[in-house]
Amino acid sequence: MDPRDVVRTKRDGGALSAEQIAEFLAGYVAGGVPDYVASALLMGIFQVGMLPDELVRWTRAMLDSGARLELPRVAGPKADKHSTGGVGDKVSLALAPALAACGVAVPMISGRGLGHTGGTLDKLESIPGLRTQLTRAELEDVVLEAGFAIAAQTAELVPADRKLYALRDATGLVESIPLIASSILSKKLAEGLDALVLDVKFGSGAFLVELDRGRVLGETMLAIARGFELPTRVRYTSMEQPLGVAVGHALEVREALDCLAGAGPPDLRELVVTLGADLLAETGVAVDDARARIAAALDGGTARAAFERGVRAQGATSLELPAAARVLEWSAPASGVLDVADCRRIGLAAAALGGGRRAPGEALDHAVGVLWRARIGDSVRAGDVLAELHHNGRGVEGAREHLAAAVAVDTGRVAAPLVLPG
Ligand code: URA
Repeated sequence: MDPRDVVRTKRDGGALSAEQIAEFLAGYVAGGVPDYVASALLMGIFQVGMLPDELVRWTRAMLDSGARLELPRVAGPKADKHSTGGVGDKVSLALAPALAACGVAVPMISGRGLGHTGGTLDKLESIPGLRTQLTRAELEDVVLEAGFAIAAQTAELVPADRKLYALRDATGLVESIPLIASSILSKKLAEGLDALVLDVKFGSGAFLVELDRGRVLGETMLAIARGFELPTRVRYTSMEQPLGVAVGHALEVREALDCLAGAGPPDLRELVVTLGADLLAETGVAVDDARARIAAALDGGTARAAFERGVRAQGATSLELPAAARVLEWSAPASGVLDVADCRRIGLAAAALGGGRRAPGEALDHAVGVLWRARIGDSVRAGDVLAELHHNGRGVEGAREHLAAAVAVDTGRVAAPLVLPG
């Protein structure tokens, strides 16, 4: 096959056959198809899109480019969640052990922070000694020990996605719905799951700000999941303001621990209970009392015990999390009814303090971040403390500028519900 013919098919608006896709992706992963030809195909997909069946074929070829996480020693159902990411989204840290406590195993392959969003792996690595780079055998051992594991993608899993994602990043081709949907689903399908829940975020702190775009992504991912007969639910949840209070790695782990002790911010608990109940229902473990089962795991200490087993199995030596040397209060610049005009800026404030990377591989300061204590609709007076900056002397001015740009007053806007109905 001449890979340029595959590019021509897509360039001219056609659908790619299973053979074209399989040969092209196998050639790309093996190095025979160069990056410049692959980027021409990606641009074609970006412009033309993919038909539903074609996208399932594309996702299957990505999945077949590598190994799968077979976990033969793990009995019982396996499930996972994917979130499109946001500010203060630490749901995975509480959800995975809560599900484990309810008898559903969670072999979660997770990612690192991107731009204004923090990554689950970075958050977990604020726990002393904890390792996220696990082999497949180690991951299985951790799941057997604790009922869940949260680890980085290995070289063997979906290598086509690793290469294509880097190429999309380098060529300005990340924001394509079929490419995003196939990238996410191929990695989740490689986990060998019995059920999946997709948390698609909307609002100014989300990857896709507009709900309409989020819905297209959600429906596209659902269509792929149906093509693989993977029971899947999608939830559309608000990222108009940070989830919970904490934004920053160790600060978020502390908040997840509060949630695992039956406390913590109500919006965080609500999402953990909703997404957890979806997975208990999809796996058939619990239907009518699914929400109550997750709530009982949080309130009764079994989720917290699973968390401790899991992080210990991943190498944690203690739960003494790093703390920043200084805390600076940040006050409302004006009086009125508070709005979050740009939630992304709150994530960028935490990143500016040293919690984000400016280049891949850069070291992070796990101790820093923002405690965001205000909610949309609060009546505030100029000078009221809205946030705390936990810092180590770096990036404070930048963080304050981000927070100033994040808020507005008296816009008349009403916050969307945390979880959209349906
Ligand atoms: N997350 C992914 O895993 N892939 C994308 O393409 C975008 C976000």
